[in-house]
Amino acid sequence: MKKILIAAGCALVMLTGSAQAEDSIRIAFDVPYEPFEYKDENGELTGFEVELAEAMCAEMDAKCEFVIQAWDGMIPGLLARKFDAIMSSMSVTPERAERVLFSKPYYNTPGGWFAAEGFDIDVTDMIAMKDKSVGVQRGTTMDTFVTENMTGVVNIKRYNTADDMVLDLEGQRLDVVFVDYPVGEQTIKNKEGFIEIGESVKLGEGVGVAMRKRDTDLAERVNKALDILKENGTYDAIMKKYFAY
Ligand code: ARG
Repeated sequence: MKKILIAAGCALVMLTGSAQAEDSIRIAFDVPYEPFEYKDENGELTGFEVELAEAMCAEMDAKCEFVIQAWDGMIPGLLARKFDAIMSSMSVTPERAERVLFSKPYYNTPGGWFAAEGFDIDVTDMIAMKDKSVGVQRGTTMDTFVTENMTGVVNIKRYNTADDMVLDLEGQRLDVVFVDYPVGEQTIKNKEGFIEIGESVKLGEGVGVAMRKRDTDLAERVNKALDILKENGTYDAIMKKYFAY
């Protein structure tokens, strides 16, 4: 039996039938974080991880519901059972792995530095960077990196959403943005006047689906589905669609 579920503004095909598929799996996204998860011009939830989640749910023969959750409440929301999985380009780190169970990584994203055209300071030069402002999304691996490496030198500005950060860059209230590389690249593609500066920084061990520690059965199903999607070409097709640069 095939049904259409509308959750959080997103049309999702769900397959029901098996006993396992009775409970729906609620997956959380922080939007906008283009190209990972964002709303298209019709307000539909879309992006690399949204399509991957749809394919994953179909492969698992599971009912899924998509939930929008602000980044800073992601892990608390998961632990409080507001949803069952996070697919929000969450990088695998030892600190997070103490609290959540990660699937196998399904993507790799370093942190990238972006600024307005004309910015010509070397971001690794802590003398030249003195008092420049660097924006990060609060609670991300980029936040941890600048906090550890640039505190007391640059003016670190922490934002709740990646979009607010880009708005400040556009409004010249911020000198540099440090964000997941594909998000910065996408910003350059969508808007005029921004450039990548400096070398990207490897942060975390890839991006994984985060689940509760005790949900080992779910993790097993997720890992199996990801393997199949990688083998049968679905994963590549989705990836090419969203990371076309
Ligand atoms: N990859 C980074 C991290 O794990 C940032 C992820 C932010 N994701 C988002 N959907 N806003 O910390």
